[in-house]
Amino acid sequence: MIDLHAHILPGIDDGPSGIEEALAMMEAGRRDGVTGAVCTSHVLDRFDVATESRLADAFSELRKRATLAGIRMDLWLGAEIHMNVSLDPVPPAATIAGGGKYLLLELPLNDIPHDADDKLFQLTIAGYSPILAHPERNAVLAQKPERVYNLVERGVLMQINAGSLTGEFGYRIRKAAETLLDHGLVHFIGSDCHNLRSRPMRLSDAFRAAARRAGEDTARELTEANPRRVVSGEPVWTPQPVPFTQKKSWFRFR
Ligand SMILES: [Fe+2]
Repeated sequence: MIDLHAHILPGIDDGPSGIEEALAMMEAGRRDGVTGAVCTSHVLDRFDVATESRLADAFSELRKRATLAGIRMDLWLGAEIHMNVSLDPVPPAATIAGGGKYLLLELPLNDIPHDADDKLFQLTIAGYSPILAHPERNAVLAQKPERVYNLVERGVLMQINAGSLTGEFGYRIRKAAETLLDHGLVHFIGSDCHNLRSRPMRLSDAFRAAARRAGEDTARELTEANPRRVVSGEPVWTPQPVPFTQKKSWFRFR
């Protein structure tokens, strides 16, 4: 499996405390079946030349130390960019693996900035493929899943967290993740790992949960094939989205 969303660069964000924890996270991921990861540290205010060189330095150091430690895991550089960060123009280094196509973007957890939809559409019009990180954790999208559907219809891709699908963020978020999956609105499952203990690099449990719900082929697309297409700059597989026919909340079955 390839982890498209991993906070494993030390000293950049709220990820690992140091290089030793980062390497231990990768070793744990390797034992879990993760053979490649995109380093997606938070970028919260601006993506400038200083940001770019900070990320690049931390990335090459981690790659060097992982090789020395004998950890067989492919690494690519990316970032998890907050929706408030200006991306006009898009710095090439802000795209995953510098490929100039895929961007991992995050919303605040509790609301959606008024211009977020417009920013996403502008990116798609400009030929980028924005990937929204963990929409199931956003309170607004949780109440209005048809907004996720509308975004997907207009070319936005969705990455849910492994821990959401396995219930680690609670019942509501698990239900939200399952609803997205049931409606063909999920394109990737990432670990969103931050540390060794409470937010580890683990995808296998979520793979099994997705396989039970959507079938093994889909689970493989979301954890292996689609992430690989992203780092290779190829078009991803997208399921047919299922519209929300009635107005309903994801949580009505509660
Ligand atoms: Fe993240």
